[in-house]
Amino acid sequence: MLSYIIEGGKRLEGTIAISGSKNASLPIIAGTILSGKTSKLYHVPNIHDTQITLKILTLLGCKVKKSHDKIEINTKGMNKTEIPEDLMRQMRSTVIMAGAIIGRFKEATFSYPGGCEIGARPIDLHLSAFRKLGINIEEKGGFIHCKCDKIVGTEIDLDFPSVGATENIILATVLSEGTTTITNAAMEPEIEDLAKFLNKMGAKIEGAGTNIIKIRGVKQLKEVGYKIMSDRIETGTYLCMVAATAGKVKLLDTEPEHITPILHKLQECGCNIQTKGKTIELEAPKKLKAVDIKTMPYPGFPTDMQSVFGAMLTTAKGTSVVIENIFENRYKYTQELKKMGAKVQIEGKMAVIKGVRRLNGSKVESHDLRGGAALILAGLTAKGTTYVSKIEYVQRGYEHIEEKLAQLGANIKVKNL
Ligand code: UD1
Repeated sequence: MLSYIIEGGKRLEGTIAISGSKNASLPIIAGTILSGKTSKLYHVPNIHDTQITLKILTLLGCKVKKSHDKIEINTKGMNKTEIPEDLMRQMRSTVIMAGAIIGRFKEATFSYPGGCEIGARPIDLHLSAFRKLGINIEEKGGFIHCKCDKIVGTEIDLDFPSVGATENIILATVLSEGTTTITNAAMEPEIEDLAKFLNKMGAKIEGAGTNIIKIRGVKQLKEVGYKIMSDRIETGTYLCMVAATAGKVKLLDTEPEHITPILHKLQECGCNIQTKGKTIELEAPKKLKAVDIKTMPYPGFPTDMQSVFGAMLTTAKGTSVVIENIFENRYKYTQELKKMGAKVQIEGKMAVIKGVRRLNGSKVESHDLRGGAALILAGLTAKGTTYVSKIEYVQRGYEHIEEKLAQLGANIKVKNL
């Protein structure tokens, strides 16, 4: 079993560059299906989730060429509309591909998506939006078959600003007839990035990044090159890891305006933060102060940062209260942190974290992507050696994490134990 072995206690210091965003890459890669032409994507992170998405495209008949972080995707020869079940189950965001496939071919077949077990994660909002667009949906033997003669624009009011459902509606309607208006749309920067890419290809999407998005259908799209935005969760993760070790860091290729609540909370913890253009510099105090956080849809504090921030707070001075409002099962990492001496009490959506002086190295197991990163953070601060198993979860979303941390002076290795 692949594990991270971390010798804790090193103060992290140095400069690293942030990779392209995982959550923007996935819908943008799906979006390349719509043009039926070649798209060149830059700043694509080489992580398990982008690899799976590209593998699906290849199996559906597309041609993919990779060179470092540049990927060329030719979707002209795509001749299948069924997403393979085993790949669908590996990752939730494969559901985004459904919107793009239906958008181009007016049919798609897929099964219920998998992904990190951080909650029930239904896709009812995606399916009811598809139905509103005139798509006929049949569920049989675990498969969902979607079919229609044409997609006609309409008004869709989301019960909850779901990121995936917002993206799926956009992808399904770019080539539709008429205009679609999404109200209570998710406002995450990754949605804005998807719309920028699609608009560059010739789509007519207005309002992405706000809670009302209008998509006017177009007949065809053209070939483009597009650079994917930087990963805001990776940015936040390194800031917290450095802060937890009382360190100092300069992060390049960031988008500071995407992580305002994370920067504010780190300042409240006592960190000194300077931002200039695409650079963020952070210098942490010897001891962080406890703070309270509450996860919310964007522009609130992101749920994807809850575990890493929570792990950082286990050694802050005082008691912190964390409220997780988005996913109901996102506290599994705290059970592992307790093995390392953390004092955490969970009650429903709330975690009460009493700061301890120091954690102790231990054997712990990742249960999901961000929870795995939280355990790495804990290992970096702990006394002695920490073994983090099931690192496949972490590899789903962090590009070269052990190399980047080693660049900051961390003692972290990957071993098959
Ligand atoms: C995306 C992100 C994920 C992030 C999440 C919230 C990607 C690839 N993943 O996931 O990293 O944590 O946004 O910021 O971009 N829900 C329903 N029915 C639906 C859809 C969602 O009830 O049909 C619920 C979910 O169970 C969850 C909440 O809505 O409780 C938010 O989910 P959503 O915004 O859809 O997240 P994802 O798109 O899955």
